[in-house]
Amino acid sequence: MTARIIGIGAYAPDQVVTNQDLTKFLDTNDAWIRERTGIGARHVSTSEGTSALATEAAKRAIADAGISPEEIEIVIVATSSPDRAFPSAAADVQGAIGAKHAVAFDITAACSGFIYALHIVQGFIQAGIYKTALIIGAYTLSKVLDWTDRSSCILFGDGAGAAVVRADETGVVKTLVGSDGTKNDVLYCQARSLENCLTGGKPELGFMQMDGQEVFKFAVKKVPEIVNAILEETGTDREAVQHYLLHQANIRILEAASRRLKVPMDKIPVNIERYGNTSAASIPILLDEMHRDGRLKRGDTLVMAGFGAGLTWGAALMTW
Ligand code: COA
Repeated sequence: MTARIIGIGAYAPDQVVTNQDLTKFLDTNDAWIRERTGIGARHVSTSEGTSALATEAAKRAIADAGISPEEIEIVIVATSSPDRAFPSAAADVQGAIGAKHAVAFDITAACSGFIYALHIVQGFIQAGIYKTALIIGAYTLSKVLDWTDRSSCILFGDGAGAAVVRADETGVVKTLVGSDGTKNDVLYCQARSLENCLTGGKPELGFMQMDGQEVFKFAVKKVPEIVNAILEETGTDREAVQHYLLHQANIRILEAASRRLKVPMDKIPVNIERYGNTSAASIPILLDEMHRDGRLKRGDTLVMAGFGAGLTWGAALMTW
């Protein structure tokens, strides 16, 4: 048995902030952002938190799968921007959708989170522990961005993507994940600082900090490396893959991956122009779009690959 995605859904808040909108408070311009990143706009939430976005994406995925929430045995939300430190966003989703038989918890693997979640449920399914899972990537990164830092805030957007995963004969062929905690300061967001009755200070909250060029160098090397590794380890010819769904961080990273992998850009779908980088939501949002517009056909071979803070990375090869 393996894990198969049987339903997919996505949701982003209504409010759209264009590059032009950013120029009202930031020394930047549309041409720079488009040329360096491929981003034209991003969704920014003013009222719905991470759990609300996750819940809406989950409801859509469950409707797409045509199952009852009560059939779900495990809910995993991949997020680093939950509404509350505890309980988990997954607990919020579980309660909101009525998945009353499910165990629920969050994972933090930044932009690799959706692949990590798939990897985890694949293990549970292969072990025969669960048959039906709900995995969600959900982020409201807008609240941890430093909106005065033009080199980072222009990149990210809010959104959520969800998948219902079920035990089946075909589906995920292999997942591959990795981490390098020695690079944990290349991209990070400080949580509440250590202040208490002994220190007497007031806890401070941090904003996202990023060494953009280091992340860029890591991504252009790591994405082709893990895609090649998963092709090799599964004995899959690169031409036999219909779509390479790569984490939507920067169009130049996608183009570099295309060149290094010798895979044409028409096999690497792109929606970053409208969403920016939605972290762990980017791959399921893309999957959802392609499912709805008919680009994904049952039986297609897909490779998904993500990377992010940690540093983390992950890839999956699966039959749709
Ligand atoms: N608008 C206009 N100018 C900007 C700008 C902006 N939004 N942001 C930076 N600049 C300026 C810089 O100040 C610098 O000016 P200078 O040459 O006068 O000093 C110049 O543009 C070049 O900056 P640099 O940082 O070298 O640009 P870059 O080509 O490396 O692009 C990123 C910056 C952030 C777009 C790029 O490094 C990147 O995408 N990295 C990956 C980040 C990422 O994907 N993170 C998430 C991973 S999950």
